[in-house]
Amino acid sequence: MSEMINSKLHVVVLAAGKGTRMQSDKPKVIHKLAGEPMLGHVLKTARELNPVKLTVVCGHGAEELKTVFSGSEDIHWVLQKEQLGTGHAVKQVLADLGRESNVLILYGDVPLISAYTLGNLVEVLDSSDRDELALLTVNLDDPKGYGRIVRGATGSVLKIVEEKDASESIRQIKEVNTGIMLVKAEALQRWIPKLTNSNQQNEFYLTDIVGMAVQDGQEVEAIQPSQAYEVDGVNNRIQLSRLERIYQKNQADQLMAKGLAMADPSRFDLRGSLEVGKDCFVDINAVVEGNVRLGDRVMVGPNCIIRNSEIGSDTRIEANSIIEDSRIETACTIGPFARVRPGSLLEQGAKVGNFVEIKKAHVGKNSKINHLSYVGDAELGEDVNVGAGTITCNYDGVNKHKTQIGHRVFVGSNTALVAPVSVGDDATIGAGSVVTREVGDGELAVARSKQRNISGWDRPTKNKD
Ligand code: UD1
Ligand code: CA
Repeated sequence: MSEMINSKLHVVVLAAGKGTRMQSDKPKVIHKLAGEPMLGHVLKTARELNPVKLTVVCGHGAEELKTVFSGSEDIHWVLQKEQLGTGHAVKQVLADLGRESNVLILYGDVPLISAYTLGNLVEVLDSSDRDELALLTVNLDDPKGYGRIVRGATGSVLKIVEEKDASESIRQIKEVNTGIMLVKAEALQRWIPKLTNSNQQNEFYLTDIVGMAVQDGQEVEAIQPSQAYEVDGVNNRIQLSRLERIYQKNQADQLMAKGLAMADPSRFDLRGSLEVGKDCFVDINAVVEGNVRLGDRVMVGPNCIIRNSEIGSDTRIEANSIIEDSRIETACTIGPFARVRPGSLLEQGAKVGNFVEIKKAHVGKNSKINHLSYVGDAELGEDVNVGAGTITCNYDGVNKHKTQIGHRVFVGSNTALVAPVSVGDDATIGAGSVVTREVGDGELAVARSKQRNISGWDRPTKNKD
């Protein structure tokens, strides 16, 4: 989806604040929502508008922030050394603004703003030649803490008054400033230098530019978001958790609309992206992370975690299984209580059963590792049967080694395969064997001490004292 760049649009995200109420050592905007830093959500939405420039004003934890987003080369970082208010924050970017640009101001701690709502804001300003400022406002039953939108007798916006500076009557106003606004760069160049900090908080309020626009004879348009939660800011972890649930519910609704059956959308967490085929089912408490694709008719049992993996059609993932960075082909069965670690490939019809851990294992068609095994750094052919308690001893304390198993091999229970080792096609390994040498095609390997039976053995008896 590559659309035309909006050559006039410059997005500025304010993210210098500390977020004291998060009670955290980390800067607020890197706290995660659905596995992604809040700021990441804002940036992703901003990019959907195809801005010509994307600036983030940082301050508290600036270095940590830059590290977290070091992969995003489109971000222009601007440092606000001291946090003297939102107006002061915008002042730091004045030098970087193109003359003709429209500046969209977003907050790094308002993560769920939608591109749709922002698009509406952009249109409002585009449709007027004269006006230089458009606001996003919202009506709240409890407007406490927010800047209030003061309107005149005719209903036009006059100014914004911060709660701490507001009279009792202004505090009654329920229409509040979301903080998100769109301003012409030229206007910011005129207005921002005029801001003062003569207010209750001794801060330079960006909101004071609203009164300035009115004084310049302009009409300040205010539009509302399509959903109220879009403009919810995060000041503490309770608010963050509420937005998390809203976000998760929306994702679940979208997936169900695409045909996914869910046991309970309120017990589903997607931290990344999930593609689903037809008639898949996800039971309760699924956690899906990174990029995951399910084919058709995939069944995911309760309490499963799937991360960066592809699951083929008709595969069943039974309860309490974890799959990570792996590819599972069609009609496989995994779990219950299986752990499929990174780099694994299960070919069609393969089975990895309960209390089995596999890692970097290629399990061929219809091969089965049904119970209580560890198979790592291994290659298994087709129709292999791995008995319960089999271990690939892939680690000698220093290096990892590979185990190679051919087609139709039968590995008896409780076998230790000491890698590097290979077992040829159609070979059989007797239960309890410690296999340290190559087994040839069709051979039977038995590597265990012979059974001795001692007759007439007297069991010890209990001491009398
Ligand atoms: C601000 C608005 C208020 C609005 C509210 C919505 C002002 C003066 N007030 O108040 O009208 O109702 O947001 O949530 O604008 N920031 C900086 N540098 C600073 C100060 C803030 O980058 O020096 C950033 C913060 O990191 C945050 C955002 O700006 O992302 C808002 O700052 P905050 O202190 O939360 O503003 P409020 O007092 O809540
Ligand atoms: Ca705030």
